[in-house]
Order: sequence, then C-alpha cells, then structure tokens
Amino acid sequence: MKIKEITLAKLKPAEFIRDQSAELRAVVGEHTAINALSGGVDSSVVTMLAHRALGARLQTYFIDHGLMRAGEPEAVVKLFRKHGVPVKLVDARREFYGELKGKTDPEAKRQAITHAFYKKVFGRLVRESGARFLLHGTILTDVEETVAGIKRQHNILTQLGIDTRKAYGYTVLEPLINLRKPAVRRVGRALGLPAALCNRPPFPGPALAARVIGEVTPERVELVRQATAVVERVLARVPAFQCLAILHADRVTGIRAGRRDFGHQIEVRCWDSQDAVTARPTNLPYKTLVKLGELITREVPGVVSVTYNITAKPPSTIEAI
Ligand code: XMP
Repeated sequence: MKIKEITLAKLKPAEFIRDQSAELRAVVGEHTAINALSGGVDSSVVTMLAHRALGARLQTYFIDHGLMRAGEPEAVVKLFRKHGVPVKLVDARREFYGELKGKTDPEAKRQAITHAFYKKVFGRLVRESGARFLLHGTILTDVEETVAGIKRQHNILTQLGIDTRKAYGYTVLEPLINLRKPAVRRVGRALGLPAALCNRPPFPGPALAARVIGEVTPERVELVRQATAVVERVLARVPAFQCLAILHADRVTGIRAGRRDFGHQIEVRCWDSQDAVTARPTNLPYKTLVKLGELITREVPGVVSVTYNITAKPPSTIEAI
C-alpha cells in the first residue's frame, strides 16, 4: 500500500475515523482481527478505532513481555476495560527473555523482539483465535527511520519486504500509517480517549529493552525499571518530549558505606522534540540533575554513577539501542 502523509493541518479527525473504520470493516469482513495494546498513544488509538469499527470481531491483547514499566500492564488493562474494551493479558515473559538471552548487539536485540512478537506470540494468538488479521499502530516516522536504515523499529515488516501472510500466517493492517504523532494524538482525542493518554510521551515498542545496553535479563531490566520510575517522578512537571533512563553495560568504581563498590551506571536522557526525527537535550536546572543523581543512587540497588546526555539527535538517537 502506498503511503501518503496526512499532515496535522490537513487532518479532519471525524472523516479520518469514518474512512478508516469503513476500510477496516470492508477488509476484515466476517473474519476476526487481533491487536496488541501497549498503552502507548499509537496502539491505544488503533485499539479504540478498531473496537469502534469491529466490535466483537476484534480481540485485543496486552502482551506482558516483562519489559514494561512498573505497574504498567495492570494499569493499561484496567483503563481500557473502563472504556468498554475487553483486553486479555498474555504472559509472554519466557518467550521474550528466551529470545533475548545472550544477545548484546542492538540490531540483534531488536530482531529478537520482532521475532518474539510476530512469530512466536502473535503466531500463537492467531492460531488460537482463528484471526486472519493483525492490527498495528505503525506510524509514518517508524517507516521512515527503518527504511532509512537508522533503526529497525520493531513493528516494521511489509516495508522491509516481509510478506507477513507467508512468514507468520496473518495479514497486518496499519490504519495510522499516513499519520505522524501529533495527528495520532488528535485522532485519539476525537475517539474519546483521555487527554492524559493521548498526550503521553512516546514509549518504544521494545520497551525497556531499548534502554538496556548489553544483555537484556530480568535483573538488568529491573534496574532500568526502577531508574525509569525515579526519572519519570522527578521530571513529571517538565514539559519535555520524552525522558528516560538507560543502563550501561560497563561498570565503574564507586564508594558505598566506606568501601569500594564496582557498580552500575545509569544515563538519564530528557528530550525536546516535535516529532522525534530531530531532538535536543532539555536544559534541565542543575539542581534537578543533582536530585536525579541522589535519588537514583539511593533507590536503585548497585548504581554508583548517574550521567545526563547532552548530545542532540542526530548524532544521538532518543533510545539507547
Ligand atoms: P529513536 O531512538 O529511533 O526513537 O531516536 C525515535 C522515537 O521512536 C520511539 N521508538 C520506537 N517506537 N517501536 C516504536 O514504536 C520501536 O521499535 C521504537 N524505537 C524507538 C522512541 O521512543 C522515540 O520516541
């Protein structure tokens, strides 16, 4: 399918929802579709759009891969159930950590996540549910970055020449592919999703795995999960595009209780950006940075060093892998 951008200025949300709903109903017909909700803006908008269009012919899953932020799976499922969307929680932690085991190369890690999502978990869910279609919240920026060879976004398949029906046994539908993030947020509001959800900072599909340099193990993800909770708490009122914590692979010498401690390093990133294509580090007050250092070393076990990224994108990227 040819991609044709619908800019924020040209977007008519009600018309967009009507056209996409009609298209979904026409394509899915009497069959069923599934989709995975992560609680991010894109997947939330796809869930609501498809729920409205397909009703009981849509089954929404929340895939718990063990890479989400603290308390996230339960909170997302609860919110959507409140909005009338029945969401099934799927425990896929073993599948994801099994694929990630021993991998340290960033692209190999991203491929492992793609494989776990599309081949293992969705393949299984499609077989079990009898669905023919998988709905996905891919947006224009995801396609551009993957096709440009910058980073393989976990959800890009057809644009890389992958025939999902042949490879995985289902067809992928991408109703948001012509939109960028600000337009997706506007469609979300028009669908009646809460402003707090539509304005949520982006969170990557590979979740906290995108923020662990080196091997992704449950223990290492837990460190970055705790550091993320501190960063999001301290920077909650900062109007940044996105803020995050990264766990480095190297350890450094520190001192704890008067003794040498060869500990972990956390890097904090906070970004000003419009569309994630380019970004600049937010000019955070020095006392906020010092507070982040104090709280992360106090609350996250074994961390002895906290740094703040002062590089723009490019040459940096927003996530670490
Ligand atoms: P990068 O790290 O490429 O991130 O500068 C750009 C924006 O995209 C998000 N991101 C992803 N989103 N799947 C997604 O849906 C992915 O694989 C992925 N990787 C990065 C990132 O959080 C940022 O907003």
